[in-house]
Amino acid sequence: MGVWWIVVVALLAHTASAAVREYHWEVEYKFGLPDCKEGMVMAVNGQFPGPTIHALAGDTIVVHLTNKLATEGLVIHWHGIRQLGSPWADGAAGVTQCAITPGETFTYKFTVDKPGTHFYHGHYGMQRSAGLYGSLIIDAAKGKIEPLRYDGEFNLLLSDWWHESVLSQELGLSAKPMRWIGEAQSILINGRGQFNCSLAAQFSNATAQFSNTSLPMCKFKKGDQCAPQRLHVEPNKTYRIRLASTTGLASLNFAVQGHKLVVVEADGNYITPFATSDVDIYSGESYSVLLTTDQDPSQNYWISVGVRGRKPKTPPALTVLHYVTAPSSQPPSSPPPETPRWNNFDRSRNFSKRIFSAMGSPPPPRKFKKRLILLNTQNMIDGATKWALNNVSLVVPATPYLGSVKYKLRRGFDRKSPPTTFPMDYDVMNPPRNRNTTKGNGIYVFPFNVTVDVILQNANGLDANASEIHPWHLHGHDFWVLGYGEGKFRPEIDEKTYNLKNPPLRNTVALYPYGWTALRFVTDNPGVWFFHCHIEPHLHMGMGVVFAEGLNRIGKVPDEALGCGLTKQFLMNRNNP
Ligand code: C2O
Ligand code: CU
Repeated sequence: MGVWWIVVVALLAHTASAAVREYHWEVEYKFGLPDCKEGMVMAVNGQFPGPTIHALAGDTIVVHLTNKLATEGLVIHWHGIRQLGSPWADGAAGVTQCAITPGETFTYKFTVDKPGTHFYHGHYGMQRSAGLYGSLIIDAAKGKIEPLRYDGEFNLLLSDWWHESVLSQELGLSAKPMRWIGEAQSILINGRGQFNCSLAAQFSNATAQFSNTSLPMCKFKKGDQCAPQRLHVEPNKTYRIRLASTTGLASLNFAVQGHKLVVVEADGNYITPFATSDVDIYSGESYSVLLTTDQDPSQNYWISVGVRGRKPKTPPALTVLHYVTAPSSQPPSSPPPETPRWNNFDRSRNFSKRIFSAMGSPPPPRKFKKRLILLNTQNMIDGATKWALNNVSLVVPATPYLGSVKYKLRRGFDRKSPPTTFPMDYDVMNPPRNRNTTKGNGIYVFPFNVTVDVILQNANGLDANASEIHPWHLHGHDFWVLGYGEGKFRPEIDEKTYNLKNPPLRNTVALYPYGWTALRFVTDNPGVWFFHCHIEPHLHMGMGVVFAEGLNRIGKVPDEALGCGLTKQFLMNRNNP
């Protein structure tokens, strides 16, 4: 009796504080000036980047999303939100729903269960690269406090920007031979960057690295869309800076001149705080860092976001940390921090290896039940360039997987699962001996509540001496990052090196050149979940797999999610027998 009473009170207290936050969004193209050069951007209610969603843990978010695009489908994915019990709201076209057709509205409804720094973005074609993104920030529920102390906060959503339209990029990527999109023209901070000019032009060595002629000084008119947002701070305070990267391609490095950063959150999970001069952030990742304004308060300081992991052909994005005690128009007195060398991968790996879960976070199960070893390769199919996993390049089918599995539509996708490993004599250090691969749309099906290990195995691409970074992102879950290694994964030996004590929980993790990354998760969220490289062109070229779990526990999928492919016919027959 007593215990039940407590449960009832707890439930009432919970529902009393949780709110429903409802939004009506319309997506369309508009002309914008993300980097001071005019181009087409995707806008939500006229805004680019889209509006920030602020919610509290426990809230329900409802977004009525209307597709106002004239000729394209649309979906939005809520990156980092696990969609517990609402897999149809995940917003992955072809996986959890049909793309919303022009003129139609689809309603996303989901709960956000814990505090964290997240974002949302388009997940149909390459609409994320076209600028369809915004921030999604969850704070602690009313009456709860986060285990962090700070006086103010800033939110920086990082992205990269091309002048070539995304439709043209997509066409080039599928062309025979492939036309590569090249490096981005600019890096954007909250949708703002500077093309062909530099805020730091007065320090010629700061820009020399990126062009033979040094870039001219940027000039802004008041209210210019590309003018950087400065961060105004008071001396001797601590600020939380939220970072999230939704880049199409670039791996980034964030640094604030003269200031240490203490990293406290990764992908919506607290980590053991550690101090660093700069933060590597891959596409799909998010961090919170604490910065204490303990430097000379009569000066201003550079904030720099530079490219790593790929040859730096894009100048860093810059903005200013403005101490309110310093003259507001006074430029910093020395050049911006230099981005660490792009191919110093030891440095990159060492940063990743400093990330541990916070005390008290749940440790992973000691043993796995199922294991996939996924070989990442670059291949050819009939003259087109592709990316493949265990020699299968993913082509998402016309019928969303979630509908096919829910209604047992046998022809929705290939019922044969892709291979769970690759031939152990494969030479990961050299270009593939067999350059050709195959297309496929098979998926990996797991029972409910089992522990799955995934080993991502990198390899050489098609060209000799080239292996790229791939940031892998899993929908529907956080996973534990058990370890990283170089060369080919050796099951019995490398398993012994796993961190089972305090591995970080994340939803995105880097796979370094010629190396492997091991992760573990529990299939406790019935649904169908995309797992893919977060580099937009790589995903477009087939670099993903699909996991399905707990299939007989999936709830009622809203019909609105399934108005395409075989599910459309199925629902018509069922509703009008
Ligand atoms: Cu942010 Cu499927 O990705
Ligand atoms: Cu990739």
